[in-house]
Amino acid sequence: MRTIVVPLGDVGYHEIIYPSPACRRTIPKGARVPRELHDGFGRGINYLRISVTDKCNFRCVYCMPEEGVAMRAHDELLSAEEIAHFVRLVAPEGITRVRLTGGEPLVSHRIVPLIEEIRAIDGIEDISLTTNGALLPRLAPALREAGLDRVNISLDTLNADRFTQITRLGRVEQALAGIDAALEYGFDPVKVNTVVVRRMDQDVLELAKLSLERPVHVRFIEYMPIGSSATSPCPSIVGRRTQGVLPPRSGQSEAPEEPMWSSSATSPHCGAGTSGCSGSTLNPELWDASDVVPSDELRELISSQARAMGIGALAPVDESAPYGAGPARYWAFPNAAGTVGFISAMSNHFCSACNRLRLTADGQLRPCLFSDAEYNVRDALRTGDDEAVVALYRTAIAHKPQQHDHIDGTQRFMSQIGG
Ligand code: 5AD
Ligand code: SF4
Repeated sequence: MRTIVVPLGDVGYHEIIYPSPACRRTIPKGARVPRELHDGFGRGINYLRISVTDKCNFRCVYCMPEEGVAMRAHDELLSAEEIAHFVRLVAPEGITRVRLTGGEPLVSHRIVPLIEEIRAIDGIEDISLTTNGALLPRLAPALREAGLDRVNISLDTLNADRFTQITRLGRVEQALAGIDAALEYGFDPVKVNTVVVRRMDQDVLELAKLSLERPVHVRFIEYMPIGSSATSPCPSIVGRRTQGVLPPRSGQSEAPEEPMWSSSATSPHCGAGTSGCSGSTLNPELWDASDVVPSDELRELISSQARAMGIGALAPVDESAPYGAGPARYWAFPNAAGTVGFISAMSNHFCSACNRLRLTADGQLRPCLFSDAEYNVRDALRTGDDEAVVALYRTAIAHKPQQHDHIDGTQRFMSQIGG
């Protein structure tokens, strides 16, 4: 064993007993050792989420500007080799699980070879991917072959018109075909992610019912103020908030006809890329607390609708089930093939169990989704100094905040951070 001292700046020092790769081989089978680095609050960090691209073939109203993200210079983004090299460096630090996200990771032509490379890294036990599903029917065999273990597919409604309004470019059949392909090619578990926004008036019971016949885990995610503090965002989602997909707020009378958000000439790009944006005032044009549907309220709604239809109420499922390791809490209809999960990022902090870091497509390591503090791994990687990269990784962990104050929102959008 060796002891790593993680500097915590003015917070003090945190000592971690840490097995080197060589000494790990001599640890008796079954012995419990602290494999991962721990942050200043005792949380073991073993999960890295990587945004492989900030581009997407959809433009979900809560996630992306209508016109897509601004083109970035090629060298601003990490290459697949750089991403794989970073994973190689942090696997011995205790990262065992990697999720590839975006934007939409499947629009990246590097995705299959990247998964192959990550699969070959010692210590990586689990590789997952978050996708909108549209390209899954085409890519599922190659992804499986490359070593991808499991997928999460985003699906906010089963209503065809509403789906196209929300995603702006997508068709619901694409997402459904993606779910079918994921099941057919043996990804396990298959999870469905539904972001619930009150004014999107989603068919939540219909979505939950997907779990009746299929072994899928439908997770309802509370809408988070990601990107909502960008006062001069690049790319810009800021615009006239037209009444669209969503029913009017109380006090507003008109039923929506137009998309939820639209670009506005009064909200120009700042022209400097995300790093050039500044400001931290919550922008009510992008997110409002009244859009959040607390998980408890939603679960009761789904349960009562299901009871009324004779399906039966949701009942909690065993926490130790394999799909229960993350922040979601799982419930199920009687005799259902799958489950219904709730991710209460807003109504119920799960920060004390947070085990993750995020790497953005432009190579910034983010200790917390809700904090804009970032560590520039890209520049460190490009010096060729691996020790400096590992040192930066440890510093990021040491500075992982205890919990988030989500009321402040973030400057980057979800597509830029990796959901
Ligand atoms: N709040 C919650 N979830 C979000 N996602 C994107 N933006 C938000 C938000 N503001 C989700 C997507 C997808 C994943 C990438 O992140 O629906 O499931
Ligand atoms: Fe694309 Fe997912 Fe964002 Fe929708 S939520 S625009 S599918 S990255």
